[in-house]
Amino acid sequence: MNRFEGKVALVTGGGSGIGRATALKFAAEGASVVIGNRKEKAGQETVDLIQQAGGKASFYRTDVSNLKDVQNLVQYTVDTYGGLDAAFNNAGVEDPQAMTPEQTEATFDLVINVNLKGVWYSMKCEIEQMLANGGGAIVNTSSIAGVIGYPGHAPYTASKHAVLGLTKTAALEYAQQGIRVNAVCPGAIETPLLDGLAEGDSATIDYMKSLHPIGRLGKPHEIANAVVWLCSDEASFVLGHGINVDGGFTAI
Ligand SMILES: NC(=O)c1ccc[n+]([C@@H]2O[C@H](COP(=O)([O-])OP(=O)(O)OC[C@H]3O[C@@H](n4cnc5c(N)ncnc54)[C@H](O)[C@@H]3O)[C@@H](O)[C@H]2O)c1
Repeated sequence: MNRFEGKVALVTGGGSGIGRATALKFAAEGASVVIGNRKEKAGQETVDLIQQAGGKASFYRTDVSNLKDVQNLVQYTVDTYGGLDAAFNNAGVEDPQAMTPEQTEATFDLVINVNLKGVWYSMKCEIEQMLANGGGAIVNTSSIAGVIGYPGHAPYTASKHAVLGLTKTAALEYAQQGIRVNAVCPGAIETPLLDGLAEGDSATIDYMKSLHPIGRLGKPHEIANAVVWLCSDEASFVLGHGINVDGGFTAI
């Protein structure tokens, strides 16, 4: 399919995992893609993978918890490719496992600044640009931890619940101006972030699998498929929605 021929897509956290898979899919469907990532080497690797496959992509070093960086990222996208049609606000960090009172203020601030404020900063800049463009589509990364509680991960869970609130509110605000805002809520997906949470412990991975009725973890491309669909015209009547892509985790 070439649903994004002639379009421009922006992916934050595109240097790894879900963001990389989504950037590859946008590019495979014809989009020019800009990767905004804190780690330069990882972001450039995604660009290389897209270019090797014959697609168009560029990298711009970005810390999404820094508003100036995000403003520069969106400006770079417009200067390089002439507009912005789709944005996937996906950069995120996990927190170390600890009971709620034992989480540190430094962890709480980091997780909220990246996972929540970073999404707000991104929408702040993207919506302005999309209004000037005549419309667009935005998908924010929440989590099943944005829908249900996740013991041992209070800052992460709070950030992901709040992303759904931001998503619904922005969707309502711009529903009549051609901008659709949605969210994706992944279950446990095989990425470096998940490896960090499991700390290489195979018993933890097996336990995580057992929580998913489908009997396995998800793959990054399974999230990418949902995100790219949400950004496409096929989802033209979908807005303010958080789609659970979780192997049935939240259906129990
Ligand atoms: N993997 C899972 O099981 C899972 C489940 C639910 C939700 N998520 C969410 O999906 C998103 C992507 O996670 P992933 O599993 O692909 O993780 P990942 O660690 O593989 O990728 C995250 C990417 O974000 C980048 N990043 C981190 N902080 C950044 C910052 N401040 N500014 C810019 N880039 C930054 C990293 O460099 C990395 O490239 C995150 O928001 C995560 O919370 C993941």
